[in-house]
Amino acid sequence: SANGLHEYYSGYFPIGVAVSPRALEDSAQSALILREFNSMTPENVMKAGPIHPSPNQYNWGPADAVSYYAKENDLKLRGHALVWHQQYPGWFFKDENGDQISKDTLYARMKSHITEVVNRYKDVIYAWDVVNEAVSDNSDFVYRQESPYYQIAGEEYLAKAFEFAHAADPQAKLFYNDYNAARPEKVDRIYTLVKKLKDAGVPIHGVGIQGHWSIFEPSEKDLRYAIDKYASLGLDVQITELDVSIYPWEKERRAMKPGESDEFTNELEEKQLKQYDMFFRVFRDYKETLTGVTFWNISDQYTWLDTYPVEGRKNYPLLFDQELKPKKAYYKVTSFD
Ligand code: XIL
Repeated sequence: SANGLHEYYSGYFPIGVAVSPRALEDSAQSALILREFNSMTPENVMKAGPIHPSPNQYNWGPADAVSYYAKENDLKLRGHALVWHQQYPGWFFKDENGDQISKDTLYARMKSHITEVVNRYKDVIYAWDVVNEAVSDNSDFVYRQESPYYQIAGEEYLAKAFEFAHAADPQAKLFYNDYNAARPEKVDRIYTLVKKLKDAGVPIHGVGIQGHWSIFEPSEKDLRYAIDKYASLGLDVQITELDVSIYPWEKERRAMKPGESDEFTNELEEKQLKQYDMFFRVFRDYKETLTGVTFWNISDQYTWLDTYPVEGRKNYPLLFDQELKPKKAYYKVTSFD
């Protein structure tokens, strides 16, 4: 009989979790990780801003701690994220006069950053999110317009990123990763972009569906449509950042008003359980396609959604509660034959 999520899902896919070095040092959280998960992703410490704060300085300590823990405890490790329009270091896109760098300088910096980081962890990391969130949310554009990578180099930077990563570690599975990746019209844009890369011979091996979802979305139909579409490219598909918010994602990107409650009521718990149940039924159906399902944070004790997209309200998006105990949804997703 199974004692942890990853054991229930051993015939399906690895079950991962996003972690900080601090969580790994906490004995209660560490015990929970080792019981329930067999894969990890560093939540922040391998992003360009945290790991490469100035041109000649890498901040390896926190990332080393995560990679050491994964190795010691025999957990798989996903790398996250090499190229992203957020959490990059201030110097990255500027020259010594503070002016925007040229395309050639950008590629030289990308190459050196990607080579150093990928190289350092290549004995532990089996998959990298190479490019994160490059697709526009707005159907007027394919590419996210405000990305400094895009502004300096145009779409060509994507292929470069994958090529540099592949050269640094030819064994690593290289992913394109994005959110709202089960909304049909964005699915089609992501599909088009990834297909273009693949057809051009760019070393890309997988599509990451972040999975920052809620009790309202996606529907089963939209989820299946997304997985089918990415799988039709012949690539790995993973759910890389799963959480199920109790708040609507876009309609209510606002702080709580006086009189509103951020309590996790029985009614909300029931809705969340149904959503988790549906997601994991679908995931199990796609066990030949999905090569990983990773949660974004460990438990409701700490979730990035407590402060995003607005501060001042609590969220409860995970399978473990604030005391690290399994929630009803946990028992639901682990009861199947
Ligand atoms: C989030 C982290 O969880 C936060 O701690 C940080 O402040 C912002 O980034 N998509 C991603 C992740 O690819 O890197 C983000 O992580 C969540 C959205």
